[in-house]
Amino acid sequence: MVIYLKILGLVGSYRKLGNTEVLIREALMSAAEMGAEVEMLRLTDLNIKPCKGCMACVFKKADCKIEDDANFLFSKLFEADGIILGSPIYIFGPAGIIKMIQDRFLQNLGEKAPDFSRGDESPESLFESMVYK
Ligand SMILES: Cc1cc2nc3c(=O)[nH]c(=O)nc-3n(C[C@H](O)[C@H](O)[C@H](O)COP(=O)(O)O)c2cc1C
Repeated sequence: MVIYLKILGLVGSYRKLGNTEVLIREALMSAAEMGAEVEMLRLTDLNIKPCKGCMACVFKKADCKIEDDANFLFSKLFEADGIILGSPIYIFGPAGIIKMIQDRFLQNLGEKAPDFSRGDESPESLFESMVYK
């Protein structure tokens, strides 16, 4: 049986066809040559708003109230077998859009989390190790 992996390339730069996008495209082309199904998303084309830190997703297990494209992006992340994330370095770190998405990912670390934990690490222990230590 042949299994086609879905590889998602994420571009974290506002510069269309800039260095980041060129590199992501190259990586996706190689994956496609090896038989993968590939898709590219420019994170900066999406409407992503910052986390407001209400913690309702953590303590009330509530759906995030922010209306934007975050859920669309997360559904793409969860259906992919592999993700290639590219970001320019902005002042010794990744571009701001990456951090904004990282913060919004908090809503996926509670009970509703798909099984993306490593090994026997539960999403809860992963969350605790990220937040409470
Ligand atoms: C605001 C800003 C901050 C940057 N900070 C760094 C940095 O700290 N270190 C570095 O090596 N390059 C830095 N750069 C350069 C970019 O990382 C580099 O030009 C990158 O290739 C741009 O990617 P892009 O073409 O996909 O936008 C910075 C560029 C900008 C606009």
